[in-house]
Amino acid sequence: MMSSNIDFVCPVEADLYEAVMEHLRLTFFWEEPLNVCVSLCEARGSGHPKLEAVCLDTLQDGLSIVALSDGKVVGCALNGSQSRQQLDEAIEQTYAETDKKFRGIFAMLYENNREINLFGKYNVHDIFECRILSVDPEYRGRGIARILLDQSIQEAQLRGFKLFKVDATSAISQRICKSRGLTLEHELLYADRLDPDTGKPAFAPPPPHFGLQIYTQLFQSE
Ligand SMILES: CC(C)(COP(=O)(O)OP(=O)(O)OC[C@H]1O[C@@H](n2cnc3c(N)ncnc32)[C@H](O)[C@@H]1OP(=O)(O)O)[C@@H](O)C(=O)NCCC(=O)NCCS
Repeated sequence: MMSSNIDFVCPVEADLYEAVMEHLRLTFFWEEPLNVCVSLCEARGSGHPKLEAVCLDTLQDGLSIVALSDGKVVGCALNGSQSRQQLDEAIEQTYAETDKKFRGIFAMLYENNREINLFGKYNVHDIFECRILSVDPEYRGRGIARILLDQSIQEAQLRGFKLFKVDATSAISQRICKSRGLTLEHELLYADRLDPDTGKPAFAPPPPHFGLQIYTQLFQSE
């Protein structure tokens, strides 16, 4: 599909995985508010093996969408499928992580998802999750993230999922979710999430980012 000279591609073939990863090292890894406030990566463009493993695992679910400009990756929605059992396993693996920064972010995300138990609430086995939304700084403000989200929602419905979900950690992605009419399921203020070692807030990102919001869309069966 074309929009303003941008191609939106789904599924993402394996020969694009490294280009997607390179895009993420330059954008999401370095700029996502929680990654910023814990200094997850050393510099823009530097990798993070554990985060890369999460991204690769998600790409292999075959649900992600990439935005290409003249063949260059300029944005992506990394989407995956998750069952209750996979969430429980992910939590256990995260608690065993030695990287405190990575563990802190993912434990917070997974615990909040376990707490709200969308599997039980909507009686679903698998949830379509939009895990990462990222756009190249030079291409921002043109609606690319909005299109990536819209297409992810369409993809979820097309693949027969009953529930679409986004863990929105940034005020901008939250604004996009609201504008698409998604349902706000849950909110955690970052100031309320304390670091068990220091007793102080674990995350203090710069404004306008203030908390985690979890959004959903339920597809009605015919
Ligand atoms: C979040 C991100 C993907 C948005 O990409 P984008 O393509 O620029 O977003 P869009 O152009 O689709 O804009 C969507 C909305 O956000 C608003 N917006 C975009 N950038 C903004 C900014 N820096 N400040 C305030 N609002 C902004 C737009 O005005 C638009 O709102 P509107 O529909 O009410 O006009 C991009 O900023 C990014 O990659 N950030 C770093 C990674 C990150 O934090 N990802 C989200 C974590 S879940």
